[in-house]
Amino acid sequence: MSDKATLEINGQKNEFAIIKGTENELAIDISSLRSASGGAITLDPGYKNTGSCESGITFLDGEKGILRYRGYSIEELAEKADFLEVAYALIFGNLPNAEQLHKFHSDIKTHSVVDDDVKKILDAFPKAAHPMGVLSSLTSALTAFNPSSVNVDSEEDMYNSVVRILGKFPILVAWTMRKKKGLPLYYGDSSLGYVENVLKMMFKQPHEEKYIQNPILVNALDKLLILHADHEQNCSTSTVRIVGSSHAGLFASLSAGISALWGPLHGGANQAVLEMLEAIKEDGGDTKKYMAKAKDKSDPFRLMGFGHRVYKNFDPRAKIIKVAADEVLGDLGIQDPILDIAKGLEQEALKDDYFVKRKLYPNVDFYSGIIYRAMGIPTEMFTVMFALGRLPGWIAQWREMRLRKEPIGRPRQLYIGETERSFIPIKKR
Ligand code: CMC
Repeated sequence: MSDKATLEINGQKNEFAIIKGTENELAIDISSLRSASGGAITLDPGYKNTGSCESGITFLDGEKGILRYRGYSIEELAEKADFLEVAYALIFGNLPNAEQLHKFHSDIKTHSVVDDDVKKILDAFPKAAHPMGVLSSLTSALTAFNPSSVNVDSEEDMYNSVVRILGKFPILVAWTMRKKKGLPLYYGDSSLGYVENVLKMMFKQPHEEKYIQNPILVNALDKLLILHADHEQNCSTSTVRIVGSSHAGLFASLSAGISALWGPLHGGANQAVLEMLEAIKEDGGDTKKYMAKAKDKSDPFRLMGFGHRVYKNFDPRAKIIKVAADEVLGDLGIQDPILDIAKGLEQEALKDDYFVKRKLYPNVDFYSGIIYRAMGIPTEMFTVMFALGRLPGWIAQWREMRLRKEPIGRPRQLYIGETERSFIPIKKR
């Protein structure tokens, strides 16, 4: 195969290098296209065919349903690793040894505090505020209390900024939920593991002297966070990278990523799935009616939790989560009719021509909400939990982008507006 791609524009042939990734993926390097072709650009709304960077963090093959962080398969990580090990591997490139992991955790713990004034900001939000808006605001507000910028050329400074945000973010997540539930705010417990600490900060009731950990919930949350930890160049991650590419700080970049995640086509799908399943249940549980609505092009309804931009055969995370949902509900002795509706919808979709032809399968968010609900997490908090899981991925991608000294993100456009015209004074318009 030639290592060059040829593009002919107006009779002029231009050659571009073909670059191969470590998994033999091909990319045409068109960085010289404008200058070589006299100004032509590529047009690719939604970036369906456009790579924005070279990255060594996450590999996914949507046709084969493969997802690997730093070369480790998601199946193996979900089964054998814990969230903090995965976070370390994503951010720094390799799994930590025992000493590195211990240091990483203890450094995170020393930063597990936020300025008390953050409580005042939280207090100012109405109780009805959506937790994703609150989380994004509080993350941005951290900039005010940690104003010094990170020297990305200093490994120590980089490391400190990583452990700082990993320490503070779970507090913001827990407080966001406690605010929603009208509960007093607590700091964490440094004797606990990262995930156990999150659960205690979220769930400890004022009347409880001691919060008793439920190992089923600890395991389930650990797994969910691992499954969400990174997913290469999606909407929120690309947002983090592009905001960071202007050299805006880490907190500001993460806050933008949280806002991008919020939408129902991305992280907000987990909330939308649960609301959809509830609506189907309220409406008598007629899944066929909703299947028909999803296929009707004049109806804006979509089957939430179905379809994915890159997975076209199955989402490997959905496979793991479906089994986990069964286990968690079984272990907790919960019979949730919502789970039956979800399974019914999945079965129908998998044999329906419309879904089969368009390669629409359940994605990671189809079953995650069922587990969060069983854990006692309010529906509006589901996307916040996704953000907690995605945090190491965003950090890893931001760090990689800065270390590789990537240029500021600045796409081109094809202008389709009015050509030049004269100003008309208001009286004559
Ligand atoms: N229900 C019904 N039809 C659908 C759905 C759906 N959930 N998803 C896609 N389609 C149809 C769509 O109407 C289109 O049909 P046609 O070719 O006849 O016009 C075709 O399938 C291709 O859809 P698309 O919107 O062009 O595909 P996309 O790659 O731009 O969108 C998606 C991917 C995930 C935004 C979309 O499948 C969707 O909206 N799904 C529901 C929301 C969802 O579950 N999002 C969570 C994604 S996983 C979490 C994450 O990583 O962010």
